[in-house]
Amino acid sequence: MYPLAADQPYPRNQWWVAAYASELGRTLLARDILGEPVLFYRTENGDPVALAGICPHRAFPLKRGRLVGDAVQCGYHGFTFAADGHCQFVPSQKNVPQKSALRRYLIVERGNLLWIWTGQESLADPGLIPDMEAIGPGNPDWVVEQHPLATVDARYTLLIENLLDLSHVTFIHANTIPGGSKVVEIPVTLAETERSLTVQRNGQNLPLNPLIQMQFPHQKGPVHQQFDAEYLGPCLIRTGGAISDAASGTVLGIQNFLHMITPASPTRLHYFVNTARNFGLDNPALATMNLGMGTRIQPEDIDAIETIEAVLQSGATLPTEISARIDNGALKVRRRLEAQIFAETGCA
Ligand code: FES
Ligand SMILES: [Fe+2]
Repeated sequence: MYPLAADQPYPRNQWWVAAYASELGRTLLARDILGEPVLFYRTENGDPVALAGICPHRAFPLKRGRLVGDAVQCGYHGFTFAADGHCQFVPSQKNVPQKSALRRYLIVERGNLLWIWTGQESLADPGLIPDMEAIGPGNPDWVVEQHPLATVDARYTLLIENLLDLSHVTFIHANTIPGGSKVVEIPVTLAETERSLTVQRNGQNLPLNPLIQMQFPHQKGPVHQQFDAEYLGPCLIRTGGAISDAASGTVLGIQNFLHMITPASPTRLHYFVNTARNFGLDNPALATMNLGMGTRIQPEDIDAIETIEAVLQSGATLPTEISARIDNGALKVRRRLEAQIFAETGCA
């Protein structure tokens, strides 16, 4: 599957963001995750539940059913499934058919996010969920804006590669990201750890732009600004970084853009975005500005990757792919992702 050498398009032994915590309640929510229809809701106690979303009786979508206490009753013939997935009631007969349980997915609520484990249950370690507090969400010293979920007609790897090569900012976001026109000129370095790979661009002595001025009203001179793209697994990429006073090197603050990516199917993805900053905590104008910028910037990326997805699906003969130095990070991430998939499928 382009651009991976692996046949399976995504790793399954992986935590992914399934939903914003605020999306789940006592109304049934249906969402495709890694090609599987999943049904979400909360029990009467408020615990999140994720069950297979199709009724095993005659394949009616359970989203069209209703909650009966903590159980889901199918809207077609009334088979009823408990929150752990087992079938507890079949109208018109006393016994329930064997093997009639729905798959129950493990789900963990952390801050404003709900994480789902899509693989083998015995391997689900909540310690593998990215440490969001370290980069903003759930940390009392930071403020976080939650941007609306977008579901995009593109394979998730296209969004990963979009985010890992921020030189696109200069072209796609030339008019929407202040100072973006200079990003392509900033030299790139790579930093790798076992769990992350960061494509770093450290902008030096950048002139103040209206955005920085609004974020740091007392700043008078040029700034150093990090344009990081940190891969923290296929489920999460952090962009942004520290902004410092160029004269003294003092860090003024950190602005992170957190991109949570979840495959919906081999050719669709769910895109959750949070902005997080550790400055201007009591300045609501910054929240308004971040959310407003999101509504202008995000569609530019979505348009680019949906356009590429359409090319890939058109059946056109594609040119042999060429890569430049700026693609080193993205290429290494492809290899990491392939290794992760090969490790669970057992083929290479
Ligand atoms: S399809 Fe669900 S009960 Fe028949
Ligand atoms: Fe972008």
